Amino acid sequence: MLADVVVDLQYGDSGKGKVSHHLCKINDYTHVIRYNGGCNAGHTIYHEGKKFVTHHIPCGVFFGVRSVIGPGCVVNPKQFLSEIEELKESGFDVENLVKIASNAHVITDFHLAQDKKDENIGTTKRGNGPAYRDKYDRRGVRAIEIPEFGPYIIDMYTELHENPEFDEIKILFEGAQGYGLDIDWGDYPYVTSSHCTVGGAVLNGVPARCIRDVWGVAKVYETYVGAKSFEGLDPVFSKIREAGEEFGATTGRPRQINWMDFDMLKMAIDINGVNKLVLNKIDVLKKVKRWCIYGGFNVFEFDNSEDMEKWIIDTLKDRVTNITFSGDKHAI
Ligand code: IMP
Ligand code: MG
Repeated sequence: MLADVVVDLQYGDSGKGKVSHHLCKINDYTHVIRYNGGCNAGHTIYHEGKKFVTHHIPCGVFFGVRSVIGPGCVVNPKQFLSEIEELKESGFDVENLVKIASNAHVITDFHLAQDKKDENIGTTKRGNGPAYRDKYDRRGVRAIEIPEFGPYIIDMYTELHENPEFDEIKILFEGAQGYGLDIDWGDYPYVTSSHCTVGGAVLNGVPARCIRDVWGVAKVYETYVGAKSFEGLDPVFSKIREAGEEFGATTGRPRQINWMDFDMLKMAIDINGVNKLVLNKIDVLKKVKRWCIYGGFNVFEFDNSEDMEKWIIDTLKDRVTNITFSGDKHAI
C-alpha cells in the first residue's frame, strides 16, 4: 500500500482541489480519502463542462475512484445525502464509489444550532467544532449509527488491511483547511477543530511508512476567513481579492488578504515533510503587478514574477527542490 497526501500550507483555499484532480488524472489511485474536517470545506469542481460543488465527497468519484470520508472527518447526513443525489442525477456510480468510515463522526442538528451562535472564531457555522467537541467528550454519534448511511458505510481496517489486493492499494489523501487553521499548529484559537497536517492523514488507518509524496499547496499570497484581523493595509489587497475571486466557497464571505508569510510556509513544509510544492495563483499577482513576501521582520519586494520565483526556489533549496508555480489558467 502507498499513499500520497495533498496538504494545505496556509489557511485553506490554496487550490488543493486542482492539485488533487491533476494527481487523479496521472496516477492510478484505488482510493481518494478525505482525512479531516466536515462541510466547512468547499470544493468547486468543473468536470466535463459541468460545475459541481461538494463539501463532503472527495474528488475521486469524478474519476471512477473509490472515494472515502475517513475516520478523521465529521459528516452532516443531510448535506452528504444531497451531494449524493446531485452526483446520482449526473450519472456517477455513487453507491459503489462513495464510502464513509464507520467511525467517522456525525454533525447533528444540535451541533449546527450551537455553531450558528459562534461570534468569536468566525467559523463557517457548519457544526464542525461542536461535532469534534462531542467526539472528544465521548458522547458523539458515529456514522455507523445513521441508518441512511447504510449503503455507504465501510470498516476502514477491512477496507485497507484485510484487502486481498493490499499491495495494489494506492491512496490519495485529500486534506481540508490548512496548516494555519490546524488545531495544534495553527493560530489558536482562530483554528478549525481537526488535524489538517499530514499527521491527520496517518490517523485514518494508514501506516506512516506507506506515505510516498507529500504535496504541499500554497498560494503566492495569503488569504484567511474568520474573526481575527488579518488583512494588510495596502490597498493592493482589495485588488487581489477581486482579481483572485477570493470569496469563500462555503459561506461567500470575502477572504482577508495579505502577502505570503515565508516563515510560516517554511514551518508548514518542515512539519508536513513536504517533498513537492505547488504555489498557486501566480497569475493574480501578475494582474495587480505587485510581488511581495514577508520574511522575518522584512518585506521582500520584487519587480516581476520571475524574480520572485527565483528567490523562492533559492531560499527553499535546502528544504524542497520540486516546486511548481501555477496560475489559474495553467494546469500544474
Ligand atoms: P470551522 O472549521 O467552521 O469551525 O471554522 C474555524 C475557522 O476555520 C474559521 O476561521 C473558518 O473560516 C476557517 N475555515 C474552516 N474551513 C475552511 C475552509 O475550507 N477554507 C478556509 N477557511 C476555513
Ligand atoms: Mg476548499
